[in-house]
Amino acid sequence: MEKYICVKDLENAALDLLPKATRDYYKSGATEEQTLAENSTAFRRLRIRPKCLVNVERTDLQTRALGNYVSMPVGISPSAMQRMAHPDGELANVKAAEAHGTIYILSTIATSSIEEVAQAAPKATKWFQLYIYNDREVTKSLVARAEKAGFKALVLTVDTPLFGIRRADIRNQFTLPPHLKLANFDGHLSTKIQSTKGGSGLNNYVSGLFDKSLTWDAIKWLKSITSMPIIVKGILRPDDAVKAIEAGCSGILVSNHGARQLDGVPATIEVLPEIVEAVKKYNTEVYLDGGVTTGTDVYKALALGARMVFVGRPALWGLSVGGQAGVQKMLDIFRTELEYTLQIAGTPSISDITRDMVCHESVYCKL
Ligand SMILES: Cc1cc2nc3c(=O)[nH]c(=O)nc-3n(C[C@H](O)[C@H](O)[C@H](O)COP(=O)(O)O)c2cc1C
Repeated sequence: MEKYICVKDLENAALDLLPKATRDYYKSGATEEQTLAENSTAFRRLRIRPKCLVNVERTDLQTRALGNYVSMPVGISPSAMQRMAHPDGELANVKAAEAHGTIYILSTIATSSIEEVAQAAPKATKWFQLYIYNDREVTKSLVARAEKAGFKALVLTVDTPLFGIRRADIRNQFTLPPHLKLANFDGHLSTKIQSTKGGSGLNNYVSGLFDKSLTWDAIKWLKSITSMPIIVKGILRPDDAVKAIEAGCSGILVSNHGARQLDGVPATIEVLPEIVEAVKKYNTEVYLDGGVTTGTDVYKALALGARMVFVGRPALWGLSVGGQAGVQKMLDIFRTELEYTLQIAGTPSISDITRDMVCHESVYCKL
C-alpha cells in the first residue's frame, strides 16, 4: 500500500482495475457532469489562513457526531453494491471504519445485509441509510432490522425520488452482476435490478419501488416507528434544513449525492455556509459530503461549520485496490493530511478550527 500517497493515486489504480461498467457506475455524475467537477474545484477556490507560532506539539483529531465518538472527522458515505469493487464489499469497508474509529453508513441497496455488516464490525459506529419504498412494510422491516442490529442512526436520503440520468449507465445497460444480489431483500426485490429492460438497470429498479409521493410527513412516520435519531441526507437549501429540524431530524447531511442526481446544482461546499447559518439557533449538527479528497478539503469544510465530513468514492477506490487494507489506506491518508494541516495552520485540535481560518479566493483577487 506504500505506493499510494494520496487519494488520487488510489482512484487512478482503481480505475485501471475495475471492469468498465463498474468503473463508469462508480465515477459518473448526472448528465453533463458539471456539478461533479465543481464538487472538487469549489474547494480549490477556498484559502486557508494559517496562524504562526502556535504550540502544535499535540494534535487532536477526535470529535463527536450525534454523541458518537470518532477518532477523526472523516467517515464513510453510503454507496450501493460495494461487492462490485471487491468480494468483501461492505464488510471490508465497515471493518476499515472500525479499525479507524470512525462512522460507516450502510446503503439500503447494499450487497451485504444489515446483519452481516453488524456482525463483521460489532464495535464500529454504524448508521443506516434509508430509501423509503412504496411498500411501507418493506421499509419498516429495514428500519427495525437496523435498530435491532445496533445501528445508531437512520440517514434518510431525501434527494432521490428517482435516480438521476447517468449517461454511461444507460449506454452500458448497467446491472448488478449475476453472482451478487441486494442483500437486504428477499425475492424479486433482491434481483429486480438484474432484469434486462435496456437502459440503466438501477433506474429501472427504482421505478415503481421508491415512494415518489414523499413529503416532510415521512419524518413523522419514521419517528413513530424508530427511536434512532434521523439525519436527512441530500439537503442543499437553508429552508429545507430548517424544515428538517422542525420535522424532528437530529442532523443535516449537506450532499448532492456525489453530483449523481441533478447536474447544475451547487457544489456542497458552496452551500454549506448558508445552511450552517440557517440552523445555528437550533444547535443541530451539519455534515457534508461531495468532492472531499484531501485533508485540506476536510479542514475547509470544518472551518465553514461542518461537524464532520463523509467520503463516498474515495472508499470505493480504496476498496477496489485492496479490500479492507485499501480502505484503511484511504483513511490513513486523510488522517495524515489532516494532522499536517492542523499543525501547519496553527490549530492543533478540531475545536480550534474557527470560521476565520478559511476565506474565499475572491478576498485576494481585489489586488
Ligand atoms: C457508486 C455510488 C453509489 C452511491 N449509492 C448511494 C446510496 O445507495 N445511497 C445514498 O444515499 N447515496 C449514495 N451515493 C452517494 C454517496 O452517499 C455520497 O453522497 C457521495 O458519494 C459523496 O460524494 P463523493 O463520492 O465525491 O465523496 C452513492 C455514490 C456513489 C459514487
